[in-house]
Amino acid sequence: MRRATIIGWGAYTPPAVLSNADLETVIDTNDEWITTRSGIKERRISHVSNAEMATAASRRALAAAGVDASDIDLVVVATCTPDRALPSVAAYVQRQLGGLGATMDLNAACSGFVYALSVADGMIAAGTVNRALVIGAERLSSYLDLTDRTTAVLFGDGAGAVVVEATEGPEGLLASNLHSDGSLTEILTIRGGGTENVFDDAIPLTVAMEGREIFRHAVTRMGEGTTTAIETADLEIEDVDVLISHQANIRIIDATAKRLKVSPEKVYTNIHAYGNTSAASIPIALSEALDQGVIEPGNIVAMVAFGGGLTWGAAVLRWGERTTRLGDADHGLPDTDKTGLQLLRERAQGLGVQ
Ligand code: ACO
Repeated sequence: MRRATIIGWGAYTPPAVLSNADLETVIDTNDEWITTRSGIKERRISHVSNAEMATAASRRALAAAGVDASDIDLVVVATCTPDRALPSVAAYVQRQLGGLGATMDLNAACSGFVYALSVADGMIAAGTVNRALVIGAERLSSYLDLTDRTTAVLFGDGAGAVVVEATEGPEGLLASNLHSDGSLTEILTIRGGGTENVFDDAIPLTVAMEGREIFRHAVTRMGEGTTTAIETADLEIEDVDVLISHQANIRIIDATAKRLKVSPEKVYTNIHAYGNTSAASIPIALSEALDQGVIEPGNIVAMVAFGGGLTWGAAVLRWGERTTRLGDADHGLPDTDKTGLQLLRERAQGLGVQ
């Protein structure tokens, strides 16, 4: 059966770090609370656009795959923080990399990468696409309210990308499922910025969420989604070698793994370093797991995510023979001498948030 297999991977995590100690200087919070409640120690704040981060991650993914941008039939960027309403981030990625394949963005919030991977797989199975660049890229620092300690400590910026291509072999995406419960739209939202409130300055341009409600739904739904994907792939939970969950909160990840009875050593996490990077979190984690040798040839890898919508989705794949890069590429972006806190303040002020 024709399906998608990952042949290249890459990530871009901006250099400017925002630590818990930095946040202590601007909001009423502390390292102990953030660490025990979320697992986050620091996050990155971007000095470049979403599309530039997405392109940087893609350059590395293309080099790892040994594929030229002109051989890509589809660029899909999972994001809820596009640089502009129009055109898509994916179009800007193509502008920088070249090529004439289809470009589109997909917004399923933090579930976006699993959604995008599944969409690319479906198009590959249908025969309309042979190779796709699937990207998760987010600049959530643009939507943080430095006066709201319940959200400002959680999010960060970054991008991850994979190159997938058609295979008829045993490797590749074995199963995926995507869901959403539209009755829960209001528990995680950015109300401003869309056409609904375009002339209303009173509508905040910041993340608003009901943390405890999201937590509860996330653990249940991610457990269900993963179980279903594993069953659809005709596998048992014991067959999973590596579980890569959306990095939103270490307690959510631990609770999900416990519910699924996946042992902790099979769970890859990097939330301590990047916080919640929404749709970018799984491809960044996947890329790091591969570069650190965590994923071995033939491994069964499960990915699961949840996010605003409330969306959730899971994917199970069998890794192929190659777990090393064919090549690498410089990210091609300028450095910055600004701190994460400086950048965050500049963004917030520019948006009139604070
Ligand atoms: N520093 C110190 N204290 C804080 C902070 C902070 N940053 N934030 C909240 N508190 C206080 C609260 O005010 C509260 O105090 P009170 O008891 O005096 O009222 C206390 O800490 C406990 O607050 P809770 O909200 O009950 O804390 P909880 O244990 O639920 O943890 C958290 C909060 C981390 C937000 C958790 O609920 C969570 O991770 N939820 C999921 C959120 C999530 O994943 N969102 C992203 C979804 S992905 C996407 O689509 C973008």
